[in-house]
Amino acid sequence: MEYNLLSRQELELEKQEVQKEYDAYMAQGLKLNMARGKPSPEQLDLTMDMLNALTADSNVIASTGDDLRNYGMPDGLPGLRAIFAEFMQVKPENVIIGGNSSLNLMFDFISCGMTHGYSGCTPWSKQDQIKFLCPSPGYDRHFAITEHFGFELILVPMVDGEPDMDMVERLVAQDASIKGMWCVPKYSNPLGTTYSDEVVRRIAALKPAAPDFKVMWDNAYCIHDLTDTPDQLLDLYAECEKTGNTEIPVFFCSTSKISFPGAGVAAMAAGEKTCQTFRKHQSFQTIGPDKLNQLRHLNYFKNVDGILEHMKKHKEIIAPKFQVVLDTLRAELGDKNIASWTEPNGGYFVSVDVMEGCAKRVVELCKQAGVVLTGAGAAFPYGKDPKNSNIRVAPTFPSLEEMRTAVAVFCVSTRLAALEKLLGASAE
Ligand SMILES: Cc1ncc(COP(=O)(O)O)c(C=O)c1O
Repeated sequence: MEYNLLSRQELELEKQEVQKEYDAYMAQGLKLNMARGKPSPEQLDLTMDMLNALTADSNVIASTGDDLRNYGMPDGLPGLRAIFAEFMQVKPENVIIGGNSSLNLMFDFISCGMTHGYSGCTPWSKQDQIKFLCPSPGYDRHFAITEHFGFELILVPMVDGEPDMDMVERLVAQDASIKGMWCVPKYSNPLGTTYSDEVVRRIAALKPAAPDFKVMWDNAYCIHDLTDTPDQLLDLYAECEKTGNTEIPVFFCSTSKISFPGAGVAAMAAGEKTCQTFRKHQSFQTIGPDKLNQLRHLNYFKNVDGILEHMKKHKEIIAPKFQVVLDTLRAELGDKNIASWTEPNGGYFVSVDVMEGCAKRVVELCKQAGVVLTGAGAAFPYGKDPKNSNIRVAPTFPSLEEMRTAVAVFCVSTRLAALEKLLGASAE
């Protein structure tokens, strides 16, 4: 039953039915939240034993002889740096372990560019114009950092789940005020797509007019698989070694969705010179990171395999929730030609495009029925989705039962908003 093929009378009948379904949900007084990509309490329970991995009897002297209880070791524990190096596909010597948040490292990295500059260039804050490329839909908090520092945000459309590279190549080659580009290359937020080898190679081969151009390569979901056939991401650093662009990419990741958000460990990596500039900047900020938390993580997970095994437990909890979302979307919206969505192999989100012009109304209808969604437009620069069509669904936090209801409300709201629009349009 494709809505666009229905007559006005059929649309009105359908609207009466859908309105009844919607009103029934309204009457339930629901209070559900599919807004932010947070792990559920069961996921957090998985790592509670990590709190016992560091006790008064633990060895707190590192292989380097450093006392982990004391100041120092600004780059972090060698064992943990080696693990992060593998996940970020970089060399261990280029890894800097930070505090509890990769977003914090990204903020500091941009802040350092603003005040001190990279590659010997004038600090960004002292340049006339500064712009940043924002592949969209993307991660709202990325865009917010660069907006906060006064960059002009340039929307680069995601085409088939990847940034429009023709546009990226053209813009960065011709405009020296473009200082960088945000990327979530694996299981991207919110599309859940992974950049193809070709796109990674084209990013490695960029010829930016700005000598201080940086690719912010946020690999937040690098090992967050939902299936047994995970996506593979080409090694950007190795590609940059071939093109001579090793100072362009800056890599980020964290254990926020492996151990505890807010109490995990974050890391970054970059080329030699970029690391040097950033380390110096950091040295004024702190006399060293929390190495006891790093030790707790290392004692608990031990090595890369230990973390990968642990991630299978996360998968067991969250994959069924994604399945409920996808099954319900297919069953409720599959034949109506009013929405399309991504079916990711990993990450934390499903991205839904509802009928153009309807996203805000869908979010509003859901809210009235007690289901909170991420604000429409949030995944675009300045919070403005030019098509008013994209909505990010975050299935991880609610329980399976809550998820079932929440996504059913979402589908009813999507149908109602589409019918309102079609009826409005046919009345004109
Ligand atoms: C793409 C992406 N990067 C970073 C973060 C936040 O990471 P952290 O907790 O390490 O600051 C998130 C959280 O949702 C995210 O989706």
